[in-house]
Amino acid sequence: MTQRSSTGDRDPIDTFAFQMPTRIVWGTPVIDAVPAEVAALGVDRVLIVTDPGLATTGLPDAVRAALEHAGVAVAVHADVSGNPTTDDVAAARSIAESSRSGAIVAIGGGSAIDTAKASAMLLANGGEYADYQWDGRPITRRSHPFVAVPTTAGTGSEVTKVAVISDASQPFKKGVLSPLMFAHVAILDPEVTIALPPHLTAATGIDALVHAFEAYTGRRTNPISDLLALESLRLAIAGLGPATADGSDLDARGNMMLAALYGGMAMDQSGLGLVHALSGGICSHLHLHHGLANAMILPYALEFNVSAIRPERLRRLADVLGLPVDAGGEHVVDMLTELVRSLDLPIGLGTTVDADTDVDWDDVAAESMRMVMVHNNPRTVTVEDCRAILEAMLSSAVGGRE
Ligand SMILES: [Fe+2]
Repeated sequence: MTQRSSTGDRDPIDTFAFQMPTRIVWGTPVIDAVPAEVAALGVDRVLIVTDPGLATTGLPDAVRAALEHAGVAVAVHADVSGNPTTDDVAAARSIAESSRSGAIVAIGGGSAIDTAKASAMLLANGGEYADYQWDGRPITRRSHPFVAVPTTAGTGSEVTKVAVISDASQPFKKGVLSPLMFAHVAILDPEVTIALPPHLTAATGIDALVHAFEAYTGRRTNPISDLLALESLRLAIAGLGPATADGSDLDARGNMMLAALYGGMAMDQSGLGLVHALSGGICSHLHLHHGLANAMILPYALEFNVSAIRPERLRRLADVLGLPVDAGGEHVVDMLTELVRSLDLPIGLGTTVDADTDVDWDDVAAESMRMVMVHNNPRTVTVEDCRAILEAMLSSAVGGRE
């Protein structure tokens, strides 16, 4: 990378590109925004992709009714699993084809959105998802029209170009990404997150916060993702506690939805780090909720990384977190650890894993090292480092975390 310019107290700016083609619609009630955006796409048949839990809230039915009222024919696939697989993708794609849907509307968290994103890519490019996951088949065509309606404030998948899907025949979960895979439209209405229970609000919110933190402290930062990441962190610090304590607090819900949006854009451009690498390894064995796993890992990864975060970045982080700018890395670690604790989320693996848990932790460490984001971590990571962090997480008392 060629260094081109320096800007006063900011880091030197390397060459960079920033691409985010998704149209973002904020604040309009979903039942009004979806028909309007589908009409703007010029299609009269759509497939709604959602999950069984969300289907019980009535939101997909309400969107369906609004679309039908607008003269749009609607098919529904409401069976996406919490950890979507290539079978989920194949099912959604098949229904989209048989119903001749001109667009897919995903309503849900990252699972529904990633399933729809993967299906939309296949509809345009052909073949099976595994061809792209394992054989490196190139993606050459813009995805089938696809509208994302997030109902959690966490994954940021509505503004990322990656879909993470499990292949039942492989233990390792590998994402597929392409700038041709961005959603065409993201519809964000904080009201739809009011029904999210406290523990999911907290876990998904920590995921959003970690996206911003890892994007800001990684090796591929750029000035635009920095802006987004810092504002995401500020909003998450302000909103996470109140949104978890009182789900009907619309200001807090709005803060968290923006935090997730900005965090998603930042990490899509600037990458992630050790928390997500370890989360990938751990979740492939323990099948934990992604955000919950991130919360468990965060204090340990922070402690490992803090010495490698550049001083100017540490000062800006301290400022955004509401600490004195010269508070130092340990205070940043302590503050974020305390935030996780205050949300009643577990730290470490001590409360999750017992003597009967049959996991090969050497495999988990090796799989964490296969995650691409490990190379974006501010401090160089080895498999021995991953193993040592897992060991500390298993004993939970190490590092004084619990
Ligand atoms: Fe994440």
